[in-house]
Amino acid sequence: MHGITIPLARLLVGLLFLCPMLGHAQERPPLALPPPQMEGGMPLMQALKARRSSREFSPEPLPVQMLSNLLWAAFGINRPESGGRTAPAAHNWQEIDIYVATTAGLFVFDAKTHALQPLLSQDIRALTGTQGYVPQAPVQLVYVADVARMGQATSEADKHFYAPADTGFISQNVYLYCASEGLATVVREAIDKPVLAATMQLRPEQQIMLAQSVGDPRR
Ligand SMILES: Cc1cc2nc3c(=O)[nH]c(=O)nc-3n(C[C@H](O)[C@H](O)[C@H](O)COP(=O)(O)O)c2cc1C
Repeated sequence: MHGITIPLARLLVGLLFLCPMLGHAQERPPLALPPPQMEGGMPLMQALKARRSSREFSPEPLPVQMLSNLLWAAFGINRPESGGRTAPAAHNWQEIDIYVATTAGLFVFDAKTHALQPLLSQDIRALTGTQGYVPQAPVQLVYVADVARMGQATSEADKHFYAPADTGFISQNVYLYCASEGLATVVREAIDKPVLAATMQLRPEQQIMLAQSVGDPRR
């Protein structure tokens, strides 16, 4: 189940490097998301009952309000006075960034401004996983740990424990939001991480943890 490769992915990344100037979107201004809707949704126990991994997606894009709600649920700010987030984080380092790949390109979620910062204008969804169903989903979340944000005194072993744990809480928030809204989702480790990190132009201190596909279930 986890090992279907996409040969096209390597071809795509090669093309990205052949045309580096085509890819940059950093000069584009941040895309403000509509304020997240914090009311409604399914009762928690029903969402837990409905939570599951699904690997069949409609290619229809998610409405922007839904994307806003999804990202807030994932790791948005729920206590503006302290900057507290919807998921716990070891030492409150908040070292996990959520990158968002859609047909419109690659963005990074800025929780403080609740906005998407454009990074690349190419559709890199196919590179976020090695399984055949991955590119069908309209939204791919890529969870990236910025080790530079974790305390200097912390041992490498502890960092290797904390960052995946922190990622898991965010992923489960996404699972529960998707269950509540009837969306399909699956968290994924089957990623060609070196290729994806190069495509995303990550710094050496940034480590890809997991990815998660989100979309409407195929009807
Ligand atoms: C850390 C982690 C990595 C996973 N990686 C993949 C993956 O690469 N591809 C995939 O299709 N599913 C992946 N899954 C989803 C599991 O296969 C799924 O959670 C499991 O089969 C149980 O199904 P359920 O989520 O519907 O309960 C992963 C789950 C976890 C927690």
